[in-house]
Amino acid sequence: MGLFNKKTTEKTRPVPRHVGIILDGNGRWAQRRGLPRTAGHAAGSENFRRIATYCRDIGMDYLTVYAFSTENWKRSEEEIGAILGLLKKYLLEALEKMERDRIRLRFLGDLSRLPGELQELAARTGETSARYRGFQANVCLNYGGRDDIVRAARAFAAQCAAGERDPASLTEAAFSDLLYSAGLPDPDLIIRTSGELRLSNFLLWQAAYSEFYVTDTLWPDFTPEELERAIADFNGRSRRFGGVKP
Ligand code: FPP
Repeated sequence: MGLFNKKTTEKTRPVPRHVGIILDGNGRWAQRRGLPRTAGHAAGSENFRRIATYCRDIGMDYLTVYAFSTENWKRSEEEIGAILGLLKKYLLEALEKMERDRIRLRFLGDLSRLPGELQELAARTGETSARYRGFQANVCLNYGGRDDIVRAARAFAAQCAAGERDPASLTEAAFSDLLYSAGLPDPDLIIRTSGELRLSNFLLWQAAYSEFYVTDTLWPDFTPEELERAIADFNGRSRRFGGVKP
């Protein structure tokens, strides 16, 4: 079932195979410094780079971050523009360096609502990523867990209506294959920064048995050391998946 990959670092502890992070607190980080919220997103985007590199270095297989939700469109035009601008900057830089840095990128969400230029960049990073193997960062963009499930249900219903599939044949695994995360293992550990105790529509289906780790640290201040604390905490838990401890 692959609860952990077998890779270990010099500290010889198991590393969860797939970690999800709800990166929250950019706005508060900026406000506390008397800066505009957009400065918090810039710092948050830099921190994504640092944490993704660290995840790759310790042998994690997948890191999935919640960068822009289906609800984030409610924010001001200025803030949305700043976040999308940071993503563009990140993708342009990533295209130059991702092969050297061995970081593959995949996007989860409905990209059709994003500016055409971002869609093209996302497609190009996807093509580059397909050329090699190794650590993969998944960025949830215009993503919502409920939207993910509704789209999958719609796709399955359409296949049934076309006579291609039989409703009775649907299994959990087959349904998973219709989600944006098709082919990815479910996250073992989900981290939320800045203290809120909710999932906020992040990977609802996929999080069924994920362990949670919440910290008051704001995302731009979240360090590799704190990630190590989350991993140590995770390694101390007993995951039973609804069964009993062996
Ligand atoms: C949450 O903080 C952060 C966001 C909704 C945006 C995150 C986006 C980026 C870091 C931009 C680029 C991303 C990548 C992956 C390159 P918040 O604004 O909700 O903070 P608050 O709760 O303190 O207001």
